[in-house]
Amino acid sequence: MDVLRPSPSGVVAAEITIAEPMVRLRGVSKVYRSLRRNGTDVEALRPLDLNIARGEFVTIVGPSGCGKSTLLSLIAGLSPYTTGEIDIGGRPVAGPYTDLGIVFQKDLLLSWRTILDNVLIQAEVRGLDRRKAAARAAELLALVGLSGFEQFLPHELSGGMRQRVAICRALLHNPPLLLMDEPFAALDAITRDQLTLDFQRFWQRDRRTVVFITHNLVEAVFLGDRVIVMTPRPGGIAEILDIDLARPRNLAVRDTPDFARYTRRIHDLFIETGIIKAE
Ligand SMILES: Nc1ncnc2c1ncn2[C@@H]1O[C@H](COP(=O)(O)OP(=O)(O)O)[C@@H](O)[C@H]1O
Ligand SMILES: [Mg+2]
Repeated sequence: MDVLRPSPSGVVAAEITIAEPMVRLRGVSKVYRSLRRNGTDVEALRPLDLNIARGEFVTIVGPSGCGKSTLLSLIAGLSPYTTGEIDIGGRPVAGPYTDLGIVFQKDLLLSWRTILDNVLIQAEVRGLDRRKAAARAAELLALVGLSGFEQFLPHELSGGMRQRVAICRALLHNPPLLLMDEPFAALDAITRDQLTLDFQRFWQRDRRTVVFITHNLVEAVFLGDRVIVMTPRPGGIAEILDIDLARPRNLAVRDTPDFARYTRRIHDLFIETGIIKAE
């Protein structure tokens, strides 16, 4: 953010204000052109500006179909933007950007490979040294509580465990930026709470930059330093909320008045922008 932001202790977080944004979007929009004759184009995103600071945990919340995944794929360079410019670390994104990790809603593990070998796919694709990569993979798996499961196959793990493996795979090459597209959406509520807590703790170790997409506003407020609230399609930014809650946050924070003020605000924005129809 470009504004001075008080930290929970009341001290201004200067590193956020002076740091160059890690990810910078200017006037970025996306129109999917129809490949069919006489088909209609889809305006997925209207022009939007966004700065994401190094080390920031940004969550993006909006209803299904508002362009969240599109936004993430533009940042990752997996899909070309129609107008504007995006740069990461000062370099324009023009094609698949490789110095990042991505986690999707589906874990996309290969059923015939062991857990360790699934994580090591990242090393194979990038041509990294296998021995060093295997050591780091084991370390990451231990950090997410999966020591001892290295030689298991994906079907022998629960959904939550598999998603932990997907996070390890995304981080094997130690990217400074992690993009997550509804990573916990397919999990049951209890597993989801556990992963949310564990992921927060995991993130706090090195505070890499995270862009985390969700349609769940409680998850967005719980995890985010800032919450980007999107409008319906064509997606734009309705509002950006600074979440001033101390970390590590525990689940009980969700029942506090401060927390409710944030979720209430997002709820109101959903009503204002027509996402939710009030009675
Ligand atoms: N590859 C694509 N080709 C054409 N239209 C697409 C493509 N991907 C997404 N869309 C359209 O763009 C809009 C936004 O989709 P998406 O970014 O997936 O939304 P969200 O992730 O918020 O649910 C939707 O109307 C969707 O149909
Ligand atoms: Mg999506």
